[in-house]
Amino acid sequence: MKILLSMIAAVCSVQIVSSTFCFWNSGCPYKYFSNKTPYEFVRGDIRDSLVKLTGCEPVSIWGLIRHGHRFPGIEYAKHMKAALVIKDYIVSSYERGNCSLCAQDVENLRTWQDDKQMLDNHHQLSEEGNLESVGLGRRLRQAFPKLLAKLDKNDYQFRPAPGEWMADGVKAFVDGLYDSPLTIEPAKIDFDIISPYEKCQKYIDLKQSSQPYAVPMKYLKSSEYLAVIDRIQRRLGIDYPLTHTNVSALYDLCRYDSSGLRNQFSPWCALFTTEDLQAFEYAADLRHYYRSGYGSPINERFGEIALADLLKSFQDSKTGEGKKITAYITHATMMDMVYTALKLFKDDEPLTAEFRNPDRKWRSSKQAIFSSNLMAVLNKCNGGTDDYNVVFYMNEEPLQSICKEGVCTWKEFEDKLSPFTDTNTDFCG
Ligand SMILES: *[C@@H]1O[C@H](CO)[C@@H](O)[C@H](O)[C@H]1NC(C)=O
Ligand SMILES: *[C@@H]1O[C@H](CO)[C@@H](O)[C@H](O)[C@H]1NC(C)=O
Repeated sequence: MKILLSMIAAVCSVQIVSSTFCFWNSGCPYKYFSNKTPYEFVRGDIRDSLVKLTGCEPVSIWGLIRHGHRFPGIEYAKHMKAALVIKDYIVSSYERGNCSLCAQDVENLRTWQDDKQMLDNHHQLSEEGNLESVGLGRRLRQAFPKLLAKLDKNDYQFRPAPGEWMADGVKAFVDGLYDSPLTIEPAKIDFDIISPYEKCQKYIDLKQSSQPYAVPMKYLKSSEYLAVIDRIQRRLGIDYPLTHTNVSALYDLCRYDSSGLRNQFSPWCALFTTEDLQAFEYAADLRHYYRSGYGSPINERFGEIALADLLKSFQDSKTGEGKKITAYITHATMMDMVYTALKLFKDDEPLTAEFRNPDRKWRSSKQAIFSSNLMAVLNKCNGGTDDYNVVFYMNEEPLQSICKEGVCTWKEFEDKLSPFTDTNTDFCG
C-alpha cells in the first residue's frame, strides 16, 4: 500500500512538473529571432548609454539604420498561409491526447486570429516598424538636445535605399527626430553607397549561384537540424509529416507575429523550445555569414563603400562643411557588409554546418535585427581645432569591440576608414 501511494505520488509529481513547461508562463522566452528579432527585444537606449566625455561636444552624427519591422515578402507569406492549417492539426491532436503542448498554449493558438495585414501586405512597413523608427528618432533627439535643436536645410541629410518600406521608415525616423517636416532625399535607383550591391552583376551572380548557400543547406541536413524537426513533429503529435518548409513557415509565424513594443510573443512560438529556436537562429546566421558577411570575400568591399561616406562626412564636419546629422535607412544585407568591412564580430574560424559554436561572435540576432543601427558621433574636444574623437554605437549601446569603450581617437578612426576611400564597384563588371 505504501509503495502504491508513493508510486501515485511520483506519477502526480511527474505530471505537475511536466505541466509547468508551458510557453505562456515561461518567464523568459528566447527572444533572438535572427533578422526578424523585434528591435525592442534587444535594443539599448542612447539616452542612457550616451558616452559623455569631459570637454567634448558632439558636432555630427552619422547613422546607418535597417528598416523596422515589415511584413513578409510574397514567397514567405505564401508558405506561412499554407501553414496556418497546422493550427487545426495541433488542436485535434491535442484533443486526441497526442500533443504535449500545454492547455493554455493550445487555447492561445486556437483563438489566434489570422492577421490579414501581416500576410497580405508584402514587404510593407508595419505599425510596429513605424513606431520603432519614430522611437529611435525621438530618443536620438533627447540624447543630443543641443545638436539637434534646430536643423536648417544644410544641417542634415536623410535618404532611404530603394523600396517603399525604406522610404516609410525614413519618414517615421524624421518624424520622431524633429517637430517640423524635413526634406528627405529620394532613393537612388541606379547606385547608392547604402546599397551598392544591388545592381552589381558580380554580386547578383554570386547570389544566384549555389555557393553562398552550400554551408547553410548542409546545416539543414545535419543531424542537429533534423532532430529539431523530429522533436517538433513528436511534440505536436500530428500525422502530417512536417518538412523544413513547414517548420520554417511556423517559425516565421512566431517571429513576425511577435511584438517587441507590446512585449508580446506570438502563440505560434509555443511550438518551439529554446533549443529549436537556437538551431533556426544558427541556420539564419549561416545564411547571413555566407551571403553578406565574411563567408564571401566580395562582401566587405560593399561595406567599405558606405564607410568611406562616413569618413568623408566627418572630415567635412572638421572643416566646418559637414552636417549635424546624416542618416540612411537600408537593408540587413548592408548592415552585415558594414560590420564585415570593419572586421567586427569575426570568428577565428569560419562558421560551419558541423559545429554550432554557442559563443560565436557573428550574430544576426544583433547585427541584422529590425531597426538595427550603427551610429557614429563626432565629438569636438577642448575647443581645439584638431582634437576630435568618434564614438560608435550599435543598437543604442556603445560598440565596445571597435575601440576602447566605443570611443575611437580621430587617428584610430581615420586609420580604420581611410583605406576605404578608393574602394569602388569596378569589380562588378
Ligand atoms: C509543407 O511543405 C510542403 C513542401 O515541403 C508543401 O508542399 C506543403 O504545402 C506544406 N504544408 C503546409 C501545411 O504548409
Ligand atoms: C496518437 O496516439 C495513439 C496512442 O498512443 C497512437 O496509436 C497514434 O498513432 C497517435 N497518433 C499520432 C498521429 O501520433
